[in-house]
Amino acid sequence: MNIEEIAKKMVAKGKGILAADESTGTMEKRLKSVNVACTEKNRLQFREALFSSPSMKNCISGVILFDETLRQTASNGLSIPELIKKSGSIPGIKVDKGAKILSGSNKEKITEGLDSLRERMEEYYKLGARFAKWRAVYSISSKNPSEQCIKSNAHALARYAALVQEAKMVPIVEPEVLMDGDHTIDKCYEVTSRVLAECYNELAIHNVNLKGTVLKPNMILPGTNCKQKSSSEEIAKKTLECLKKNMPSEVPGVAFLSGGQSEIEATKNLNEINKINDTSFNFTFSFGRALQQSALKTWAKSMSEITKVQKVFDHRAKMNGASTEAKWNEKLEQSFAA
Ligand code: 13P
Repeated sequence: MNIEEIAKKMVAKGKGILAADESTGTMEKRLKSVNVACTEKNRLQFREALFSSPSMKNCISGVILFDETLRQTASNGLSIPELIKKSGSIPGIKVDKGAKILSGSNKEKITEGLDSLRERMEEYYKLGARFAKWRAVYSISSKNPSEQCIKSNAHALARYAALVQEAKMVPIVEPEVLMDGDHTIDKCYEVTSRVLAECYNELAIHNVNLKGTVLKPNMILPGTNCKQKSSSEEIAKKTLECLKKNMPSEVPGVAFLSGGQSEIEATKNLNEINKINDTSFNFTFSFGRALQQSALKTWAKSMSEITKVQKVFDHRAKMNGASTEAKWNEKLEQSFAA
């Protein structure tokens, strides 16, 4: 498959991406929250349970892995990328080295990891990865994000995307405007608009083939501490409007991050977006927390009962799969008997 075909497959209707690329530091937090020790064995056991779930075949188009996981072997002897491929899903790899303080800014972040990326991509391809991810983060406050933060992150995202395509892989371009804060939904719209416009400006400068990319943005949401709450209808309308305004038509689709929304909120909002989608873009998910939270809790309670964990994960994957086709509803959600 060439990169354009891979990108299309990643955002195909009915399916979405499982973001299981938490760094060891983030996994430490996740496992601590359910009182499980963050050992290599435990990280692998939980992830293997997800990657061998029945829903992988029909609901998960791709899995984003962390460097450690890409190199691990499943209990049946298959390498983790092979295990993922066996269900028809595509293995991917997070290649950024995290967001660090941007020197000269008001505590804003710049994502690092461009050094030696060409050589790393070559190795990742050999290990079986066919797409990559790089996440930039932007916080909202009265002064942030600054022009400096928006421009430097867009530049890094574009250089990353060009290197990934050189290695014949699809770059997921992930500019995440964070939910933290008390900003309004309109402020989120305005900031996301500026961020996306600059990203596509830089991607064009770096001659990135947009047909071989996937955008992974935030939905347009009010800040977590904003007093004025928004309905799913409003979130969907503003998200769609913002993306229509800023995305070039060549991009095959969007795979949203969940960003701290609850599992149900993320599913419901994606469903609403697809209900009113009047574009040629496919809108799907690339959720981390919103796909794994309940499964993680179940696993922590009964670590040996893998089937139970998989049932919980399968339900979330199916619900999100349904929402990519605007087929999700409360009744379907309730259909799950744990
Ligand atoms: P969340 O869906 O938990 O935001 O994670 C998605 C992701 O990959 C963040 O980079």
